[in-house]
Amino acid sequence: MLVKRVTTICGSLQSMSANQAMLDVVSSSFAHTGGYEVVSATGLGDIPALNPERQAVIPAEVSNLRTLLGSSDAVVIASPEYAGGIAGGLKNCLDWIVGSGEFYQKPVALMSAGTSGGPIALSQMARTLTWHGAYVVSLLGMMGPKSKSDDNGVIVDEESISQIKSVAALLDNVLSMDRSEVVHIAREIAEQVGYDPNRII
Ligand SMILES: Cc1cc2nc3c(=O)[nH]c(=O)nc-3n(C[C@H](O)[C@H](O)[C@H](O)COP(=O)(O)O)c2cc1C
Repeated sequence: MLVKRVTTICGSLQSMSANQAMLDVVSSSFAHTGGYEVVSATGLGDIPALNPERQAVIPAEVSNLRTLLGSSDAVVIASPEYAGGIAGGLKNCLDWIVGSGEFYQKPVALMSAGTSGGPIALSQMARTLTWHGAYVVSLLGMMGPKSKSDDNGVIVDEESISQIKSVAALLDNVLSMDRSEVVHIAREIAEQVGYDPNRII
């Protein structure tokens, strides 16, 4: 059986992260579905700030991430919202991928755990990923994660778990759809967050 690869990226660098906890649910969901290899991108916190004049030498963390993304069928990103926007470390990481293009026409699901459920982070991530040419197929916010998790940060709220599992199920479906159907979903997301759906091709 052909194994599909899903890469997860956590935009939080904290060791006990609600966003990582969301990704953990995604990983176990794909393990349950079967036929998937889920790989976590690491080293986000070690990626230097992008300086376009210094792109000749690619940091190992960026090179590894590009290779991982290039060999992935889909990507799931979960990130907190910081100060009403996309978390800086994640944005920097995404900026390093603009030139190499590994997100182009790749299905991406976006999640955000945090105080507000990260609606602005979700819409900014969706916009940025669309600029990369990705197909953003899902947005999910989880508000007030502490109240939905146990003392170890594991999500225990049944409704949240079910919503996160639905994201994995959607990606599983998307990976067997025609490209035109995926474009249709991505355009609906674009309209939802208020950017031009015609950018998505
Ligand atoms: C610098 C900073 C800025 C934050 N800004 C926001 C914000 O704009 N909106 C929000 O909902 N939560 C905000 N928060 C709270 C985060 O949503 C919360 O800490 C979240 O759980 C972090 O995710 P993590 O557990 O995966 O690290 C902020 C937290 C920090 C540290």
